[in-house]
Amino acid sequence: MSFSKRLIENLGSARSVCVLTGAGVSAESGVPTFRGDDGLWKKFKPEELANFDSFIRNPDLVWEWYSYRKKVMKEVVPNPAHTALVELQKLVPEFTLVTQNVDNLHIRAGSTGVLELHGNIERSYCIDCKEREDDVSLDASGKVPRCRRCGGLIRPDVVWFGEFLPPDTFARAEWAAGHCDVFISVGTSAVVYPAASLPLAALNTGAYVVEINQEYTDLSSRVHETILGKAGVILPAIVQALHTPGNHSV
Ligand code: OAD
Repeated sequence: MSFSKRLIENLGSARSVCVLTGAGVSAESGVPTFRGDDGLWKKFKPEELANFDSFIRNPDLVWEWYSYRKKVMKEVVPNPAHTALVELQKLVPEFTLVTQNVDNLHIRAGSTGVLELHGNIERSYCIDCKEREDDVSLDASGKVPRCRRCGGLIRPDVVWFGEFLPPDTFARAEWAAGHCDVFISVGTSAVVYPAASLPLAALNTGAYVVEINQEYTDLSSRVHETILGKAGVILPAIVQALHTPGNHSV
């Protein structure tokens, strides 16, 4: 695995850097992928559970699945990829971290101003009165939590299949992608839109665009540089190289 001297020079002189992360960044923390084949849930496809119609049809089942995911995500800890992004934020004048992950690990690692495109599994809200209600869990009989104010069903604050991204958050991500000098797409298959449009927006406005992934993706042929390998190895190496210019490949 190696990255170019040009990347380090561009990062070193960048006024603004934008990073888009996906599930691959949390893989080394042990977060199961969204489509992971976990024994407990293998009877169900995520698309069958992560949508509003399923929630209305069977809220207890959907909540049970999210309770399981919440528990898993609480038990894991940020990995060196998350930590390196915290460091990178300190090294550039303007830094925007955009994530598709709902696991809260960037925030737990210490990143600030994170733009969470697909929500955050630690937050919940009432589908009727829309009040936020985070202190929720299934009751002893396995029933979906109810709103303390209006009795409505409580849902996790994540974007489900067929739903729009939070418009303000996406607008800010688009602006950052369109105004940065260097854009890094890391640990994402770059196929789920509109998040996957962000590296393309950066390319259109002349940013230096880099991809970090264990394998080539649909984006690879369009970016300036694809670095193959684990995010938890490459991102710390990039940060290290920024501290010691000249020693830019590992
Ligand atoms: P994917 O699961 O589609 O892609 C994860 C990518 O990470 C793959 O391209 C892997 O090769 C790569 N990868 C795995 N381990 C890695 C590692 N240690 N280092 C670097 N790369 C690694 O995940 P996303 O692109 O995040 O949406 O998926 C986007 C969205 O699709 C998710 O947010 C979710 C899902 O449906 C919603 O829930 C709305």
